[in-house]
Amino acid sequence: MIQNDLFLRTLRGESTERPPVWFMRQAGRYLPEYMLLKEKYSFFKRVQNPDLAREITVMPIDQLGMDAAILFSDILVIAQSLGVKVDMVPNRGPVLQTATTEKEVASLNVENTEEFFRYVTPAIQAVKEGLYNRVPLIGFAGSPWTLLCYMVQGQGSKDFGEAKRFILNEPQRAKVMLEKITEATIRYLHIQIDSGCDALQIFDSWGGMLSPTMFDEFSLPYMERITKAVKDRVPVILFAKGAWYALDKLNAAGASALGLSWTTSPDYARELCGPETVFQGNLDPTVLLASPDVVAKATKEMIESFGGGNHIVNLGHGILPTTSVDSAKAFVDTAKSYYY
Ligand code: CP3
Repeated sequence: MIQNDLFLRTLRGESTERPPVWFMRQAGRYLPEYMLLKEKYSFFKRVQNPDLAREITVMPIDQLGMDAAILFSDILVIAQSLGVKVDMVPNRGPVLQTATTEKEVASLNVENTEEFFRYVTPAIQAVKEGLYNRVPLIGFAGSPWTLLCYMVQGQGSKDFGEAKRFILNEPQRAKVMLEKITEATIRYLHIQIDSGCDALQIFDSWGGMLSPTMFDEFSLPYMERITKAVKDRVPVILFAKGAWYALDKLNAAGASALGLSWTTSPDYARELCGPETVFQGNLDPTVLLASPDVVAKATKEMIESFGGGNHIVNLGHGILPTTSVDSAKAFVDTAKSYYY
């Protein structure tokens, strides 16, 4: 049914003629037409309004021609669904009401998940119409640990010291919170699948900030539960940025592919996970600040470093807002013209 199913075939472990390509944060930021919509509508209006969600999700596909689309939304919608207020403050990023006391954590409400996410089905249906089966649609959620980071810290941070202090001082309360986030996330992902998402990615953007033992305790088990709950319905990509030490465990958790950040070498990842594992990544997003010919050369070298198969071309983290559309296009075009 989907015309270009290269991405889904790669996720199934089939050998393909070339690597599929998409990139994290491809909807928004660096696209001038997105910036115009951003001036007119608030962030959550853009997420919840079906016409805007369609326009923003499909925009990069029309302009750059990636092999998969990713739904325009944000990982922080789970915090909202649990009853936490989230503001996207222009030029500053997200600001959240924090939940740390026993009472605040107890008040996080999982039972409201379906009610809160009523907007999701119309939005995804509109996106699917806009894609008219050209490429698959990726749904996503944040990992419970990464959500906890924002819900405790209340904003982005270089070290998420408050979030770490919380799990160290109050591990039991932290686990109650992680459980609730996990449950809400599973329900939300089922809605995304029911509405038409063809694959899912879990973003553990701050997983690599944890030591290996803390990762095993506070991140991995929850990502594993989420993966096991949905993986028989659609393929799941697990991306734990910087958690190179946990790749074998993430692989064992049931992922169809593992996202790699640029500090992890493909050789190391293969050694840990074996030749069958599908990897996604991992060009340093700052490389895309360079000129298109430099980007093309670096992208080709990156593809070659993965050894010719079981690979989805992507960046090692989200594209930077200052990237030029020409350099982003050079990245996509290089992957699309690379035949094994
Ligand atoms: O990938 C895509 O193009 C789909 C859309 C998407 C957004 N956020 C839109 C967004 C996705 C997949 C995300 C995920 C996300 N959000 C993550 C995980 C990926 C990662 O980068 O680590 C994280 C940690 C967040 C939290 C978040 N949301 C931050 C830190 C910020 C502010 C900084 C920034 O990215 O600009 C946001 C806001 C946000 N989410 C914007 C967009 C396009 C920018 C605000 C705007 O355009 O109005």
